[in-house]
Amino acid sequence: MSKERSCFMENTKKRSFSAIQPSGTITLGNYLGAIRNWVTLQNEFECIFAIADLHTITVRQDPSVFRKNSIQLLSMLLATGIDPEKSLLFCQSHVHQHAELAWVLNCFTQMGELSRMTQFKDKSAKHANNVNAGLFTYPALMAADILLYKPDVVPVGEDQKQHLELTRDIASRFNNAYSETFVVPEPYIVKAGSKIMSLQNPNAKMSKSDENVNGFIAMTDTEDVIIRKFKKAITDSDSVIEYREGKDGINNLLSIYSVVTGKTIEESVKEFDGKGYGDFKLAVGEAVASHLKPIQQRYEYFIKNKDYVTEIYSKSAEIAGKIAESTLRKVYKKIGFLQK
Ligand code: TYM
Repeated sequence: MSKERSCFMENTKKRSFSAIQPSGTITLGNYLGAIRNWVTLQNEFECIFAIADLHTITVRQDPSVFRKNSIQLLSMLLATGIDPEKSLLFCQSHVHQHAELAWVLNCFTQMGELSRMTQFKDKSAKHANNVNAGLFTYPALMAADILLYKPDVVPVGEDQKQHLELTRDIASRFNNAYSETFVVPEPYIVKAGSKIMSLQNPNAKMSKSDENVNGFIAMTDTEDVIIRKFKKAITDSDSVIEYREGKDGINNLLSIYSVVTGKTIEESVKEFDGKGYGDFKLAVGEAVASHLKPIQQRYEYFIKNKDYVTEIYSKSAEIAGKIAESTLRKVYKKIGFLQK
């Protein structure tokens, strides 16, 4: 274990935990809303990241596609800059304590709370022929993922805020029923990029499960494809590039442009003063393509080095398992289960 990694057991730095589902292509929305922040947090925090593969089976998966998606996601996370010398990166299914704590937390979560989750409502409408119990209790597993590691912050996009609020409620409920056990974590949501919308429907979030491939930018899309998708982006019948209510399509493109170029929204608006939508869309496409290019080059390297990726997630799971086990033992003891 490297020096940096050994500190995970000592808990000397502030800690961050987050996860992402291997449910398909990873999108620009995932990257700008969450992963980009995971990368920068590594300088300040002790970071623990997981691919949430247990969550993914709430929707039926083809085993071979699922395996491929998982290895591609791990490779992409490394390519974006998740540094295995500093952070842990593992598969949720490799650390059995996630499922065990989830059971306990299910018993501290109310049906009413779960019924109010917008993600449950959306997903059960979308997969009406498979509204399984896992889809309903999904947030208790997510709370377990987080609370096992006692993180101070959880970096996510805007759409996960409701789940994090529920996690905080569950943690406080357990702490009040027994005694201080869990850290009540803070959501870490950076406003810029926290809600990237579909390029084909600026009122819906950009999603990897979108059936319309023109709605999202995949992290592996080529320059030509990226530019084509931005050219086709839905905007409005107006012709002025400004950030204001009612201009959802343009607002989304301005947000994307400003995050990938590091410019403010005001600077971006000024830059396109007097220009048409066509020029603007092309510029956004080019800026995104050039931002993603080095990431795509690193991805090519990792995807060809599966053994290296396997070694990283295996070693990380070993360390994560030790932290998780220590939390789970405390929880079991407080509940009153007999000690082994
Ligand atoms: P998932 O896999 O849907 O998304 C991973 C991360 O990407 C963010 N995100 C977005 N941000 C901005 N704009 C978008 N269009 C966009 N789409 C996705 C999400 O907010 C998320 O941060 N339930 C989680 C995975 C999970 C998890 C956890 C997260 C499981 N356990 C514990 C945090 C902590 C999910 O399905 O994210």
